[in-house]
Amino acid sequence: MLGVCYYPEHWSEDLWLTDAADMKALGLTYVRIGEFAWSRIEPTRGEFSFDWLDKSIDILAAAGLKIVFGIPTATPPKWLIDEYPDILPVNPDTAHTRGFGSRRHYDFSSKTYQKEALRITDVLTKRYGDTHAIVGWQTDNELCCHDTALSGSENAKAGFQQWCRNRYGDVAALNEAWGNVFWSMEYPSFDTIELPIGAVTETNPAHQLAYRRYSSDAVIAFHSSMIAVIRKNAPGKWITHNFIPKEALGVDPYALGAELDIASYDNYPLGHSDIALKDAPAEVAKRYMRTGHPDISSYCHDTSCSFSSRDYWVMEQQPGPVNWAPHNPRPASGMVRLWSWEAFAHGASCISYFRWRQVPFAQEQMHAGLRRPDNSNASAWPEVVQVEAELNMLNISDYPKTRASVAVITDMQALWITSIQQQGAGYDFTKLEFAYYSALRQLGVDVDFISKDAAFDSYSLVIAPCLPIIDDSFISKCERSEAHVVFGPRSGSKTDEFSIPDALAPGELQSLIPMKILSVETLRPDCPQALAWNGGTYEARSWCEEIEPGDGTNVIAFYNGGGPAVVGTGKTTYIGTLPDELFLKSFLKDKCKDMGIAVYDLPDDMRLTTRGNLTFAFNYAEGAELAPAPADAEFLIGRRMVGGHDLSVWRTVPNTTSNNP
Ligand code: GAL
Repeated sequence: MLGVCYYPEHWSEDLWLTDAADMKALGLTYVRIGEFAWSRIEPTRGEFSFDWLDKSIDILAAAGLKIVFGIPTATPPKWLIDEYPDILPVNPDTAHTRGFGSRRHYDFSSKTYQKEALRITDVLTKRYGDTHAIVGWQTDNELCCHDTALSGSENAKAGFQQWCRNRYGDVAALNEAWGNVFWSMEYPSFDTIELPIGAVTETNPAHQLAYRRYSSDAVIAFHSSMIAVIRKNAPGKWITHNFIPKEALGVDPYALGAELDIASYDNYPLGHSDIALKDAPAEVAKRYMRTGHPDISSYCHDTSCSFSSRDYWVMEQQPGPVNWAPHNPRPASGMVRLWSWEAFAHGASCISYFRWRQVPFAQEQMHAGLRRPDNSNASAWPEVVQVEAELNMLNISDYPKTRASVAVITDMQALWITSIQQQGAGYDFTKLEFAYYSALRQLGVDVDFISKDAAFDSYSLVIAPCLPIIDDSFISKCERSEAHVVFGPRSGSKTDEFSIPDALAPGELQSLIPMKILSVETLRPDCPQALAWNGGTYEARSWCEEIEPGDGTNVIAFYNGGGPAVVGTGKTTYIGTLPDELFLKSFLKDKCKDMGIAVYDLPDDMRLTTRGNLTFAFNYAEGAELAPAPADAEFLIGRRMVGGHDLSVWRTVPNTTSNNP
């Protein structure tokens, strides 16, 4: 199914009827409205203006569209900010109060805002909770976007002090846990605790971790209370949230997603690729400038869809140039269709384009829509027409998303710990996780992301690229599982309070794999050392651990000086460095083969994904490439030779449940 994001408040009423009819004619099923419209819904406190909203809802409903309503709490109106200035958050890096005039100008720790956000949620869901055409609700919009998870406000400080009180009980326990004897940082009482910001130099990493944990809990509490109001007033309707890429979220996404019916994600492949490839050589940047990196969207789909066990949508899909990345190229012809199908292949059940029509005023006037400001069809239009026709022929809901054989464990605390204590400028959690993911995807292997608390019984290979905090229950899970588990560097390296474990790193992991990390060195990314494995020479980059293997642990790869770099026992491998791409790809290829997982020799810019008994081949390259389809493949879209910026879909075993071809 397809949908679109629409802002009736941006357009004159004369357009609403034809817009709705044209959406329907394009084959759209869903339309999302409302998420920034607070100042039009409640122009002054308590004076609600529902006429325009009722009318636009009626028009969209009469056209046969299903409505997703976004709670407009990302944009508190001016009168509310003037009434309660303590709603505004404080930038923790600069100590400046973030002002009114854009969006997300609220503090999750402001009790006033929590009350006001629930008040508008209550008003809207009471009024529209049983409106037939409104089928689902979106909480807020892109929580924590624009770096808003953390606030340095007095409200945040008071909330943090209370959180510390609840966690540690007495302040001596907190001082002990954080190691505050160092540099005379001991606190005499909970109400003297500072936020770890604005100090002369680095603050205590345990203090910083606690602040991130507190801030994450504050966002989750805000979100949960909003969900409770929606559930009460709009029973039977589903609830979603549109996630940003998880590395920008600053919140435990599994805790945030646990209460949702649908996890959704806003997919802007070119903007995110431009940012991710900012240091890449020009030829690489240019190669992916109009397509996005072939793994960037799927990485976000595979992570975001794991945040809810129920359903997955793309709530916003880039339709043309955006306005917010350092550079904003046009997508190559065919890419909007390819990205749409790629999202379906990775488990989405609906793709909703952002936005219906490019708006001629304000901040996003340079952001494309499906239509231009003069209402002519923009370049994505025929591609959406094609996706809709193809969806009618191939009913994607007949093909349930299948579980992959490989799981990657992702963990927000790991990201926090390694960014709080980067130790070497070349260390980046997301790049590391992405490197493992991309290596597997280049081998044609499907990947599920899971939290460290999830069961992994059904996987043959489980990879934890970086998991600093490991407890007994995780170790027992590894022991019970048949899977081979691969750990990346820094795994098991910290206690829950950000100290080095008594037995040295990798802490608890030593019961799975006898070894100790004696020291860590970090290198400039352009000064790697050699890594010897399997008769070949590769590179150990940026982060190199000195490993002392214990009894029964085999050395698998060596640094150039002869020390162990990768070690293993029968069911466990520990990689103590950041290896180059070639090593990762070759090493994971062997591991997959050992575990009976099929791998492919794919063209560089082709990716494979399975959904049910469908296989999708996506060709990000300009020229045609051959897909590795079996001889008896039944092609439903495209053919064995996949055109540039095109895709093919084939079926291997006839789908008995489907009436489709
Ligand atoms: C998203 C946001 C939308 C719009 C869009 C532009 O992050 O949710 O409201 O700003 O970006 O690409």
